[in-house]
Amino acid sequence: MASTGYMARKSVADIVASADAEEGRHLSKTLGATSITAMGIGAIIGAGIFVLTGTAAAQFAGPAITLSFVLGGIACAFVGLCYSELAAMLPVCGSSYTYTYATLGEIFAWIIGWDLILEYAMGAATVAVGWSGYIVSLLRNVGIDIPPSLAAAPGTVVKLADGSTVTGVINLPAVLIIAILTILLVLGTKESARLNNVMVAIKLTVVVAFIAIGMFFVKPEHWHPFIPANTGQFGSFGMSGILRGSAVVFFAFIGFDAVSTAAQEARQPQRDMPIGILGSLIICTVLYILVAAVLTGLVPFSDLNVPDPIAKGVDAIGLTWFAILIKIGALTGLTTVILVLLYGQSRIFFTMSQDGLMPQFFANVHPRLQTPYLSQILIGTVVAIVAALTPIGVLGEMVSIGTLFAFVLVCGAVIYLRRSDSEATRPFRAPGVPVVPVLGILFCLLLMVGLPLVTWLRLVVWLVIGMTIYLSYGRNHSVLRHPERRKG
Ligand code: ALA
Repeated sequence: MASTGYMARKSVADIVASADAEEGRHLSKTLGATSITAMGIGAIIGAGIFVLTGTAAAQFAGPAITLSFVLGGIACAFVGLCYSELAAMLPVCGSSYTYTYATLGEIFAWIIGWDLILEYAMGAATVAVGWSGYIVSLLRNVGIDIPPSLAAAPGTVVKLADGSTVTGVINLPAVLIIAILTILLVLGTKESARLNNVMVAIKLTVVVAFIAIGMFFVKPEHWHPFIPANTGQFGSFGMSGILRGSAVVFFAFIGFDAVSTAAQEARQPQRDMPIGILGSLIICTVLYILVAAVLTGLVPFSDLNVPDPIAKGVDAIGLTWFAILIKIGALTGLTTVILVLLYGQSRIFFTMSQDGLMPQFFANVHPRLQTPYLSQILIGTVVAIVAALTPIGVLGEMVSIGTLFAFVLVCGAVIYLRRSDSEATRPFRAPGVPVVPVLGILFCLLLMVGLPLVTWLRLVVWLVIGMTIYLSYGRNHSVLRHPERRKG
């Protein structure tokens, strides 16, 4: 039986059995490997490639941002193998939060759940800021000008076409998209697999078209020097710049872990999870490397620090119709990512609330709409405020460090579980354990090292706040530690 201390853990058998009993009845096992791979691509391709590639190339890595993507892809491959093992072994919706509850115990599960707010809620805010950049740019194409000061966080200096600058006041388009999607989620609008496939098709077409058309307009001189000399500061070009670039564009890979939340709906999780997780990762990594190479070949990297760098690349090609198409494609893609992240956040809070680690409020479901409406509205409000007031660079770095930290714990969980539950059925076994998870941990730590000290400090403050909440609320309300609180 699990202990009732801070390290209390749910047993693997209990999780699998309760998932079968509670949710297995409602969720149909209809998703095949292709749909799951498409779902992964749907959640992965977003602001990372459409926005942060430009920022990271201009500020940190230059054309070598291409190598940053290679590094990020390698780190995610190791982590993806670990996720595949756990998703096939524990086919439940709670993803890393649940895996951690089963392995490292309640206090670590809380830390991961709290940390996932950075990935999901802050991730949604980041992508919404990216969405804002693209909608402003698209509206400009059709003659509507949004005042730049109303589409940027306070203090952000926006460079105008005539060379003058204005300072941002508030990012209203980001608030707007979050408000619309929150309303949709409250009303119960679910992203069906079919709609998702259409969105993924649009995104993929846009990305592939950018590579296929853009490569003919590349000016190789823009790639020289491929690795601009370091300016004397860690992370500002040179090798350390590639590392910092990786840490920033790591954001672009986030989402493959969300595939694991579909484990209960997979026809054959043991086969489909590894294919979905690793397949979507491989496809996106290849596309990212190609996009980065083409983009930095089209535009001098120093000009890419704009909210819509891919559109800037297309402008360099000079096809106006294609620029508009790219922007529409980017907006579609960014919209699905925000939707999935806002939805995912409410789902994680829901699970944590059912476990007693968060107030009951987060598990309240609207009687008619059948959605966790109060939680969804609260999440939408907070995310909108953050998106309105925070620059994308700061947001993206927080999301990256938070997710990397969660990935470290997931890799650790694979090693731990191989020892503690060596008899449990593992339909998919990550190869080379413990070497692969250890490499996953080391690569994630390496990318975390690439992030600025201030981001680390923000992470520490965030975790201290989380720990205070756990000690003052979660530990006293935990259903696992206080079974008498279990409802029904
Ligand atoms: N990977 C997702 C994006 O880049 C979160 O928007």
